[in-house]
Amino acid sequence: MIDFKNEISILISSEVEGLNVEEIESLIEVPPNYDLGDYALPCFRFAKIFRKSPNIIAEELAENLKGNKYFSKIENVGGYINFFVNKEILAKTVLEEVLNQKEKFGSKNIGEGKNVVIDYSSPNIAKPFHVGHLRSTVIGKSLYNIYNFLGYNSIGINHLGDWGTQFGKMICAYKKWGNKEEIEREPIKTLQGLYVKFHEECEKEPSLEDEGRMWFKKLEDGDEEAKKIWKWFVELSLEEFERIYKLLKVDFDYYTGESFYEDKMDRVVDMIKEKNILKESKGAYIVDLEDYNMPPCLIIKSDGTTIYATRDITAAIYRKDTFDFAKAIYITDYAQNLHFAQWFKVIELMGYDWAKNLEHVPFGRVSTEEGKLQTRKGNVILLDELLERAIEKVKLVIEEKNPGLENKEEVAKMVGIGAVIFNDLSNNKIKDIVFNWDRMLSFEGETGPYVQYTHARANSVLRKAQYDVTSDIDYSLLTNDVAINVIRLLQSFSNAVVSAMEKNEPSFIARHIIDLAQAFNRFYHECPIIVEDEKTQKARLSIVYSVVTVLKTGLGLLGIEAPEKM
Ligand code: ARG
Repeated sequence: MIDFKNEISILISSEVEGLNVEEIESLIEVPPNYDLGDYALPCFRFAKIFRKSPNIIAEELAENLKGNKYFSKIENVGGYINFFVNKEILAKTVLEEVLNQKEKFGSKNIGEGKNVVIDYSSPNIAKPFHVGHLRSTVIGKSLYNIYNFLGYNSIGINHLGDWGTQFGKMICAYKKWGNKEEIEREPIKTLQGLYVKFHEECEKEPSLEDEGRMWFKKLEDGDEEAKKIWKWFVELSLEEFERIYKLLKVDFDYYTGESFYEDKMDRVVDMIKEKNILKESKGAYIVDLEDYNMPPCLIIKSDGTTIYATRDITAAIYRKDTFDFAKAIYITDYAQNLHFAQWFKVIELMGYDWAKNLEHVPFGRVSTEEGKLQTRKGNVILLDELLERAIEKVKLVIEEKNPGLENKEEVAKMVGIGAVIFNDLSNNKIKDIVFNWDRMLSFEGETGPYVQYTHARANSVLRKAQYDVTSDIDYSLLTNDVAINVIRLLQSFSNAVVSAMEKNEPSFIARHIIDLAQAFNRFYHECPIIVEDEKTQKARLSIVYSVVTVLKTGLGLLGIEAPEKM
């Protein structure tokens, strides 16, 4: 694909001495609207070189550059040179690239040879998989796809919350009051109940606390019985989580939870000690972070047990040793900002220069207009119930819109789940999102179903026209505004993906494909595609094909499927 920015820089570099192509390229701006050109070059930096005013320089340069085939117009306005790309060349270079690259269009190899570790989802054993975990799951999976698309090797880790003193308490509670069948029937709910009961009973009988601690000690020491019960809790909980992962079509390269680091922590605690940053404080061990305006990072509690942060520090060192990552990303609710800032600092104080490659990607809360997510029964909604409900609702819409559709079930799944994911990923991730069924599932507006529907409709045009990819296209037929609008969005798709990666912000891609779908629908409305004139039809179909391709790629990067028909 012709890189017009680069072409401008090459042109200018032959006119201006003392600045290389890259330097010039970094000066090029994109004007706020296309009436001012596709690109603009401010000439203020050249004043010293030419010893003339920027206005004069711009005027002279613009004059000298005239007649270049890539630009239909080059003009100066004040100290700027504005470049208007030749629309036919633009259409040709962009569409040919899509036709050649197909589903690879927009991909890059900027991450070649680099590993990126992505820690996402990471729910807690024997606790509900809540909507925060859903957000972490979909953001994480999307980033996983995005990094891979840009040539990185993504490594996905589910850092399960499967270790800690609470497991001692839970085992203790199970031994005292638990019922095996009940737990098997509804594991998470029942175990939650046991945990609550444990705390209630502790109020009356404080010695229970010690018993709970003893069970955790046993677990840490590898006691057979404790291990067996704990493992059972883990397996049952995972079965519940898997239901959600299956619906979302999400997977992980590793399910290495907190317990995985149990035998690796002693060494790390010793290392922290050796660096002389471990301090005793009221029987506990901490790393003091006062100099950095943060409360201390607790490493070992006064009862001798390690905590969440200790396990994160150990896991990071293990991941660096194992994967030699270029970046390690952690996706959680912003409530954990301090936790990550603290232990990232500890890694830095330990002298690891790769501390700068640790990135916490925080996200906002989810609410509904009425407050918390509610079920009909009034309790906080369960995730799989929420996903199933989205699917059911879409099924009703399909039944009404397109009752004859084949494999309705499959499509309803793709659209219902896609709507939930898109709703989550289409807003800046740090914003609190509002969960509104009607808005989210609508086939119009800025929704997943809208993008999917646009994709399916464009697909059906290709089917009807029996479209076959061909290179013999008259691109001069695609220079009207509505077509060029679509083409420009195709052209900048890759930039949106790169920005999404740089900012760990999948919403850039979601916004981009919304814009593309809207631009396409305008084009479709104004430029009938199946027409008498064969040349026109062929040219227009190349746009339809390109849009289908890029919408599908974009949805795929978000972790959303694109049904061919809906
Ligand atoms: N289990 C934690 C929670 O549910 C999230 C873990 C995030 N990952 C990490 N390495 N700390 O809040």
